[in-house]
Amino acid sequence: MTAFSFSSRLPLEDAESSVRALLGDPSRMNPRVVDLTRTNPTTAGFSYPERELRRALGSDGVALYAPEPLGLASAREALAEDWRQRGHSVATDAIALTASTSEAYALLFKLFCDPGDEVLVPEPSYPLFEVLARLEGVRAVGYPLVYDGAWHIDLDCVRRRRTPRTRAVIAVSPNNPTGSVPAPSEFAALAALELPLVVDEVFWPYVFRRHESAIGTEAPLVIVLDGLSKRAGLPQMKLGWITLAGEAVLVSQTRDRLELINDNYLSASTPVQLALPELLALGQQVQAQISARCRSNLALLNQMLAGSAAQALSLDGGWSACLRLPDVLSDDEWALSLVSEAEVLVQPGWFYDFASGSYLVISLLTPPDDFVEGARRLKLHVDSKL
Ligand SMILES: Cc1ncc(COP(=O)(O)O)c(C=O)c1O
Repeated sequence: MTAFSFSSRLPLEDAESSVRALLGDPSRMNPRVVDLTRTNPTTAGFSYPERELRRALGSDGVALYAPEPLGLASAREALAEDWRQRGHSVATDAIALTASTSEAYALLFKLFCDPGDEVLVPEPSYPLFEVLARLEGVRAVGYPLVYDGAWHIDLDCVRRRRTPRTRAVIAVSPNNPTGSVPAPSEFAALAALELPLVVDEVFWPYVFRRHESAIGTEAPLVIVLDGLSKRAGLPQMKLGWITLAGEAVLVSQTRDRLELINDNYLSASTPVQLALPELLALGQQVQAQISARCRSNLALLNQMLAGSAAQALSLDGGWSACLRLPDVLSDDEWALSLVSEAEVLVQPGWFYDFASGSYLVISLLTPPDDFVEGARRLKLHVDSKL
């Protein structure tokens, strides 16, 4: 047989865990299992304004292809206006459109890194960092978030993990899955590293207090990521955006390079860009439903787990809740015993790089009946093991 070689950037893992295999293949799942891992808003029982969405995508101009590497000016103007409404003045040409936030990371890694370079990423956090970096030949180096009743960035460790190959530092606010929002003083400390500061704010509308964007951080260069996926509950539209702030020269050097890279892909579709002002407005209806569900599920969870050995960690926002369990079992063992014995599916903390201890992650997007039943089974199961 002919043999080809494939890029070593592709991290083909062995099946590390049977929970991972189960999550990758829901058809293998026992239908009685209550799934507390669903994070796709389009299949979580929210009501979408379908007719209006169809109309928004059929606007004048959809038959014309006149691409702009940073994205259509009309869409970027809508986003500059969106920033204005949030109290920040951002120039239209400090915004670049992408097909998603994940793609934004790929663009930024191409922009700042050579193969073998490093970026600092929070842990626990978004599980895709490692693979997104690796696909660009870049190494994601974790820095810890630590919990003492609230989450903090271990800033000493950030400084220690910085090397001559570090090209950017990434923060997520609110973070996935911890729901934690870094304090302004933590952003200031990250800014003092004098590296490009990339802040993923895709979950910003889902915080319990007012969210202050990191765009206002005094730093040489701040890069804020956002997109339709979370804020409008519209991941299928495939549109994200990158906003640049900081010293004018650095902003303009970064913008020019982004323009150059984007010009080779032009991946944001014209109909979605044309529809963006309307999608932002329509998305508010979806956002409000998601927000209400996350809050009510969280309140139920805290009530239901009162007095249990499963403890919900406190959070500032987001779509997930993290649970600390007694470490009589590892997080993988807890997740496996929960699915096989209690028929409830959860994610083990190691998916998100929890460094130690037994943590589980559950989705606050879960439809309420399932959420209550899943939390009930979880509590009974955990308490029965002690
Ligand atoms: C922190 C964070 N950033 C980005 C994304 C992906 O966003 P997009 O759908 O725009 O790629 C996710 C998805 O879960 C996420 O958790």
